[in-house]
Amino acid sequence: MNQIFEKKILCIGAGYVGGPTMAVIAHRCPGHKVTVVDVNPDRIRQWSSDSLPIYEPGLKEIVMEARGRNLFFSTDIEAGIRESDIIFVSVNTPTKTYGAGAGMAPDLQYWEKTARQIRENSDSSKIIVEKSTLPVKTAEAMERILTSNRNGVHFDVLSNPEFLAEGTAIRDLENPDRVLIGSRETPSGLRARDELCRIYANWVPKEKIISSSIWSSELSKLVSNAFLAQRISSINSISALCEKTNANVSEVARAVGMDSRLGNKFLNASIGFGGSCFKKDVLHLVYLCTYYGLETVGRYWEGVIEINEYQKERFVLNMLNSMFNTLTDKKICLFGFAFKADTGDTRESAAIYIAERLAEERARLVITDPEALENAKDDLKGLEDISYIVDPYEAADGCDAVAVMTEWDVYRRLDYKKIYDRMKKPAFIFDGRNILDYGRLFEIGFNVFSIGRPALTHFELSPSRH
Ligand code: UDX
Ligand code: UDX
Repeated sequence: MNQIFEKKILCIGAGYVGGPTMAVIAHRCPGHKVTVVDVNPDRIRQWSSDSLPIYEPGLKEIVMEARGRNLFFSTDIEAGIRESDIIFVSVNTPTKTYGAGAGMAPDLQYWEKTARQIRENSDSSKIIVEKSTLPVKTAEAMERILTSNRNGVHFDVLSNPEFLAEGTAIRDLENPDRVLIGSRETPSGLRARDELCRIYANWVPKEKIISSSIWSSELSKLVSNAFLAQRISSINSISALCEKTNANVSEVARAVGMDSRLGNKFLNASIGFGGSCFKKDVLHLVYLCTYYGLETVGRYWEGVIEINEYQKERFVLNMLNSMFNTLTDKKICLFGFAFKADTGDTRESAAIYIAERLAEERARLVITDPEALENAKDDLKGLEDISYIVDPYEAADGCDAVAVMTEWDVYRRLDYKKIYDRMKKPAFIFDGRNILDYGRLFEIGFNVFSIGRPALTHFELSPSRH
């Protein structure tokens, strides 16, 4: 137990960001001790068990390899703070639901509480690393809290935003496009930056580790997410136009994406983006702009959210319109509930909104997903008449329509003839992710609707598609 470690690293917040990030650091830096703490004892229990609290390809293998050697999970936050040299903070910063900035500004209560906890329990100097996405100038507030009434204990605050995407977290952490470290330009700020840089240099090529001021670093994270979200809203807005003009959004995206100045990624039209970050971060950006009096800039970014909401509602209205303007008592099966493939996470998933709207239209819902059914039950717990079935064939049995919510690979490979035979007729498929072979589905007998492509139907469609 008295093993000597080079550095003791602590991470406060054992969530989707903290858990995988620390697992990779522990895996790549066996000489450092990495401890992950959380206020939630259930989470810590799960991280210490065989059934981890989050699903992420490749995560379990590296946790199993490092756990107990140099990776530890604990609820003792205070002891963790006392013994550490470097503290990553990755507690959540949800959108505020009360008071000034409600519905837009980030709720910084956990962040501030954590800063005070670090101050109260530190008797040696430490480097504090902001991992959570935070509004610009949070590091300054953190510094103020940390340096008030402490003698002889010095803190350097760094900003090191995490760019991993769920579903590919381990791949993104192992092979990041870049690692950004924001620091103060003071001698001790630069020393702290170099120390963090040395940790990443254990596996990340030097040229990919970049530095900037703290404020640029904080803002870069918000802007990266905002640009990614904007790209999805851009292609989704064009998908609406494609449906009106009989153009095919996949063909448009391919032609546009071959321009090397634009690139071909993040151009998949969909039911709208979900996940814990995009909406929250774009709203934070809007709030920041408005706070500084830049109303026009704020409105520009607000449009990204507006299109996303529009896309979800448009999908529901298209279903309603195509299924003869009533969904009452129709049985609709949602293929997927996670906000994207390869994760069990359903935070802000477009499927939540769509399920609620379909229930409002009095449809009977069946939900299937390989990883997200427990979260789906939680998200929809107020709603009645919903079944949750793991097997997609069984789930689609007797349904009037199937709607693809998540681009799980398994849905591409199903036997759709078998599904068709088990469904009510006329049978409908609404592909909210454009992953299915819709010509083949049409041949089988389905009426096929996808995003931003002409519908293929065995009957004349009324013209009012949304
Ligand atoms: C995400 C984003 O990645 C991050 O950038 C954003 O700022 C917040 O949401 P994520 O790891 O997905 O972070 O959040 P979540 O899975 O909710 O994990 C946060 C963890 O912090 C939770 O396990 C929570 O219990 C813990 N926490 C929260 C604490 O340990 N202490 C607190 O005071 C508050
Ligand atoms: C995002 C950022 O990609 C990541 O860098 C940041 O650290 C956290 O936020 P994440 O939300 O986990 O990651 O997943 P991402 O792959 O970005 O997908 C977000 C949403 O956009 C999903 O609902 C996804 O289905 C949707 N999406 C993505 C599209 O609708 N079309 C696309 O072309 C790409």
